[in-house]
Amino acid sequence: MVSVNPAEGVGAYVSNINLSALTPDDAQLLKRALGEFGVLFFRNQSVSPEQHIELAQSFGKININRFFNPVTDHPEIAEVRKEADQVNNIGETWHTDHSYDRIPALGSILVAQHLPRTGGDTLFASMFAAYDALSDALKEKLQTLTATHSSRHVFGPSAYEGEADKDLIGRLGNTTAATQDAVHPVVIRHPISTKRALYVNPNFTLRINELDEQESADLLSTLYQHCQKTEFQHRFQWSEGSVAFWDNRATWHKALNDYPGQRRLMHRITVEGVPLSA
Ligand code: SIN
Repeated sequence: MVSVNPAEGVGAYVSNINLSALTPDDAQLLKRALGEFGVLFFRNQSVSPEQHIELAQSFGKININRFFNPVTDHPEIAEVRKEADQVNNIGETWHTDHSYDRIPALGSILVAQHLPRTGGDTLFASMFAAYDALSDALKEKLQTLTATHSSRHVFGPSAYEGEADKDLIGRLGNTTAATQDAVHPVVIRHPISTKRALYVNPNFTLRINELDEQESADLLSTLYQHCQKTEFQHRFQWSEGSVAFWDNRATWHKALNDYPGQRRLMHRITVEGVPLSA
């Protein structure tokens, strides 16, 4: 029988499941678990690119990434790559994928392909827990606020102007497609669990619309410091056969870049979501 064991901080470890041959009942169970825990971790899986695509399709339509290099012959799968001679990794700033889309993606399924001998863990943070731990006064204030998110500063031409960032060219690209701006509530109701979650993130959120520039920057800074408390986090250590499935509406994530001189390659598929509401 499938077992789902809560992880420290955020997420759950799922065992006794075969992701390469998911049954409809398994898919229902995982969807509910995702809504409750925000991120699911799996060990000892063997998932081919075709099975990865089939797995993702159990949860919705695949979002073909605009900016990441695709896996050869599999445009549905985005590569998260860092070669031994490269300095920057992809996804080091805390973020939630696709918050710049008007209908943000449900989540992503990341399958380990090649791992460094040490390092390269991914941190996840619970935006359910971060919201729950706010004071009642702040919760009330946030209830009426919206924020603007954008892809332009992260994936557009300006993102590669700094000398250090040029290192990412070739792994990320298609800069002219970075035209997305979206407004979402600062606190959303999670589409699966209906629990409240904070929905702003340091990478893609530009500002809080109802506040002046300084107030917006101050409030975002306060929220970001709060969300980064270790009590809301889980550090997932990858091993061969590991898979993580996270929900973008419930979590942030951050790929640690602590393996200089080593290669790390992951395959990521992102699943389309639904409009978000407060
Ligand atoms: C990502 O941000 O999608 C990549 C996460 C990782 O490589 O661990």
